[in-house]
Order: sequence, then structure tokens, then C-alpha cells
Amino acid sequence: MKEDKKFHIQTMGCQMNERDSETLAGMLTGLGYSKTENRQEADVAIINTCSVRDNADKRFFGTLGQLKKIKEQRPDFVVCVCGCMMQQQHIIDRIKEKYPWVDIIFGTHNIHEFPQLLRSVTEEKRKIVDVWDEAGEIIEGMPSKRLYKFKAFVNIMYGCNNFCTYCIVPYTRGRERSRHPGDIMKEVRDLVADGVREVTLLGQNVNSYRGMSEKGPTDFADLIYMLQEVEGLERIRFMTSHPKDLSDKLIQAYRDCSKLCRNIHLPVQSGSDDVLKRMNRRYDRAKYLELVNKLRAAVPEISISTDIIVGFPGETEQDFEDTLSLVNEVGYDSAFTFLYSVRKGTPAAEYEDQVPEEVKHRRFNRLVDAVNTHSAEKNAAMAGRTERILVEGPSRHNKKTMTGRTDGFKVVDFEGDSSLAGTFCNVEITQGKTFSLVGRLVP
Ligand code: SAH
Ligand code: SF4
Ligand code: F3S
Repeated sequence: MKEDKKFHIQTMGCQMNERDSETLAGMLTGLGYSKTENRQEADVAIINTCSVRDNADKRFFGTLGQLKKIKEQRPDFVVCVCGCMMQQQHIIDRIKEKYPWVDIIFGTHNIHEFPQLLRSVTEEKRKIVDVWDEAGEIIEGMPSKRLYKFKAFVNIMYGCNNFCTYCIVPYTRGRERSRHPGDIMKEVRDLVADGVREVTLLGQNVNSYRGMSEKGPTDFADLIYMLQEVEGLERIRFMTSHPKDLSDKLIQAYRDCSKLCRNIHLPVQSGSDDVLKRMNRRYDRAKYLELVNKLRAAVPEISISTDIIVGFPGETEQDFEDTLSLVNEVGYDSAFTFLYSVRKGTPAAEYEDQVPEEVKHRRFNRLVDAVNTHSAEKNAAMAGRTERILVEGPSRHNKKTMTGRTDGFKVVDFEGDSSLAGTFCNVEITQGKTFSLVGRLVP
């Protein structure tokens, strides 16, 4: 066998997948492979897929098509596909029929089996489909190769019980399972010992975290208070927070815990009560706005971002106007906007009153304009302030510029040396743009 074996991983979708890819990279490193950014020279290629919207599906099949050429030139090239799409039988059927040269298909619940699956393929030249319908026990202590040295994702729970009617995630990630608080604390302490200064706690709905420690039940806010005490850890973030479960205790934690960043991603999805009901979100507009007010009363400088879906089945012009007015009322720092996408197997896919594409697009454009106006205003208002940022490294657009993030999760570009990566710096904001800030290093 070759000495310098290489792997390539392409990750689609959310932070859950990014975290899973770090685990896969960790396992491959343990098997003696090294990472490459060039798939052409890889011995093993993995595509970690997302099924949240149709364009993610399309992108996956496009990429898979391209891999066929490499496979034809080098039959030993191992092609693996995993992630959320593989939890859907119709996708597996399509791969088997149209892309039979794929070597390994595995799912979101059996990542830990990957080294065994790979061995079977490389040693026995088999094709493998191994997808579990349900999650087993949470497996602790898996290896990981992090994307950044100084910041890390930490899963606190897996799965989702909410069944929003448009969403595929509960079907691809299974039911909610919370990790033991002790395991989370150990992981964070180990990360800090390894140079990590910022952790992002991950879960589809972190507010429904339910752990059990020696002291009794531990909820999400308890976990924040526990992490506040970890010496050497400087920043705590989390994703994602469901409005229906956001507690007063968590809002209080923002006041008590200096390490908890003044930022929240609080997906609203729609500003219309009627649409929210049919989405099965289990809060209404008034409740959502009340949360925003409470958060701002407790932490005036908090930055708030959201997710919004346009064109959910049955969305009327008035429903859409309600979303626009909510966006204007809240004045988000930023928002991810999505065109509703039919997901096979979800209740909303069966709804008959689907919104025509051109109507969806028209509304989408109006929404994006409103969202961007607020982002630009919020960012412009930051000019003149001095912000503490965690420097991430050279900017993607301009290698001479460094980029970092404020406590409020805003991107700041500034002139600085690449040796600053991974450190905290004070930067005076000189300009606020729509999607980022420009600053000047304060000595
Ligand atoms: N668990 C998180 C988000 C999961 S998916 C939460 O509840 O907020 C990320 C975002 O994708 C969702 O917030 C939603 O806005 C969007 N999304 C999910 N399913 C979608 C669909 N079928 N069509 C369009 N957008 C969708
Ligand atoms: Fe999907 Fe809703 Fe669960 Fe988020 S809370 S993952 S949108 S079902
Ligand atoms: Fe996509 Fe799965 Fe995340 S569907 S958004 S990768 S949980």
C-alpha cells in the first residue's frame, strides 16, 4: 500500500455536519491518512451531505457525477457518502441505481463505524451500504481533527423532537438525546488545554437540553453557568435556540455569565401567526416579540439574527406582509432567508396550496432588501466603537487583511499581522458595511 495516503472531505449543511466531518477527519488521521484540499489526489473522498433544502440535494448529485471520472482513472479511489441525505431511502435507491461505483454509504447514526467500513472496502473490495434507522447510544471519546486551533464546536445534544412541518431534520437526525454534562465539561476542559478559547455549543434546539449530573437534572442555562467557571475559556456561543423553549433563566445567564457572548440566533421563520401555526412552531408573533424585548431589556447590546422561510404553503400576501413588518419591528443584525423547499416525507410537502415560484421569488427579494437595510444600519451604528475580537486569520478576499469576530459575532476586517490569529485584539470600528465591519487595530 502507498505510504502517504490522503483524504478529502466535502461538507455540506450545518455545524452538525461540520462537527461530524471533524470526527471523520480525526479517524482518518488515526488510520495514517493526511488531509488534502485537492480531491484529485485523494485516496479516500467523503461527501457529508445535507437534505435541508432542494439545492443541497442538487449540489450533491452534481458533485457525485464529477467523481465518476476520478474513479474511472483510479479504481482504488474510495468514494464515501454520508450525512443527512443518506437517512432517506429514496436517496440510497437513487445512488445504487445511478452511481453504483460509490464504495461506502453510511448515515448520521453510525459515523463511529467508519474505520471498519473503510477497512472492509480497502481490504475486501466490497461495496457497503450501512445506514441505521435509529440512533444508538451516544458514543463518547471519538477522535477529532478541528478546523481551528482556538475555537471549537461542541455537541451538547443530538436530534430534534420538534417536527416543524417543513423540516427534514427530525427524520435524518432522529430523536433528541442530550450528552451527560460531565462528558461535555471534560471535552471543553480538554479543548481549552489544547488552546481553544471559544466554544460553540451545538444542538438543533439547545434550549431543550436535559442532562443529568451527580447533582441532579441539568438544563441548558445550568450548563452555561458551569462553563462560565472553566478557567482559560473566554467565549461561549450556542446554536440553535428555539423560541418556544427559551427560558428566563437563560436570559438571566446572559447577565451573570461574562463569557456568554452577547449574541443570539433565534429563528422566527415567519411573522404570521397563521403560518407559524401550520409550521408547528408552537409560539406566536407576540410571544416571539416579547422574547426579543426581554433579551434586549436584559442585554441592551445583544445582537440578534434569525432564519426566515418565504413561500411556505398557503402563505398569503398578508402573511408575507406580517413577516416584513416583524423584520422591521425587530431590526435584526442579520438573517438567513430561504425559499420554502418541498422535502419529501414532511407534512408540508403534502399541503396542496403550494405558493407559485414567481410569487415566492418576488417576496424573497423584498424580504432580502428589508433584512439588508437593517443589517447595514446596525453595522453603521457600530462605527467609532472599540470591540474585542477573536482573530481568525487572513481574510478570504484579501490576504493582506486579517479577519476576526466581535462578541456579537460580527465579522471585522482590519490590517494586521497573521501572527495575531487565535488571539484577542481590540479594534476600533471605522466603517460598518452590510455584511461586515472594517476596523483599525488599537495598540
Ligand atoms: N434547528 C434549527 C435549524 C435547522 S435548519 C432551528 O430550528 O432553528 C436551518 C434553517 O433551514 C431553518 O431554520 C429553516 O429556516 C430552514 N429550512 C428548514 N427546512 C426548510 C425547507 N423545507 N425549506 C426552506 N427552508 C428550510
Ligand atoms: Fe427542523 Fe424545527 Fe427541529 Fe429546527 S426545530 S431542526 S427547524 S424540526
Ligand atoms: Fe442539513 Fe442535516 Fe444539518 S439536513 S442542516 S446537515 S442536520
